[in-house]
Amino acid sequence: MKVYIAQVSALLLDERRRLAARLESEELISPAPGQYFLADDGAAICAQTIFCVRQEEASLLALPPLPVAWQPGSSLRLLGPLGNGVTLPRPLRRLALAVFEESPTNLLSLARQANQQGAEVALFAEPPLPALPAWLEASPLAALPEALTWADFLALDLPSSSLPHLRQHLGLPSHAACPCPAQALVRLPMPCGAVAECGACAVSMRRGWRLACKDGPVFDLNDLEW
Ligand code: FES
Repeated sequence: MKVYIAQVSALLLDERRRLAARLESEELISPAPGQYFLADDGAAICAQTIFCVRQEEASLLALPPLPVAWQPGSSLRLLGPLGNGVTLPRPLRRLALAVFEESPTNLLSLARQANQQGAEVALFAEPPLPALPAWLEASPLAALPEALTWADFLALDLPSSSLPHLRQHLGLPSHAACPCPAQALVRLPMPCGAVAECGACAVSMRRGWRLACKDGPVFDLNDLEW
């Protein structure tokens, strides 16, 4: 973890017409999918938690929601990358990505990594979707149960409020474990980013509680209480 100086080079609308930002830095910043940053624009009282993904042309895309004060030219201090990201297993033959109530952009770099390793990739998400590479097929979340016997790894991106209903989406009986290895990016507010240990990001696990900002926000699915 370190502090990077970055600049907002452009504001963009994502496929859900929410504001995203392209960030440029003199240093190469490569967060793993699911890692986050504390962004200080010098104007807000405290730093904001943001997710960023590396773009192919080496800039960063800061994902919504963003601070409303950001403008092209805004200068930022980015502390991070923080937390745990998704780790793909090796070897990997078939990767399933499932995204609930969000844009799949945060997980798409996993699809590219897997594709470069020669793995097949399937995305399960609801429209609107961002532009996808030709080799990546998207299906609705209703088709996700079929993927559990096909995939040898499942990466999920979901709000913590979806965890109690996740077995229904996966077509699993209550208390059943996920049949394939799976990691979940659990989205919930992380207001202090582990700086003040506020506890707002507590996640219920099979063995007690963990802080998403420090121990996550990516967890092994079968370690979570769900
Ligand atoms: S966000 Fe404050 S402890 Fe996690």
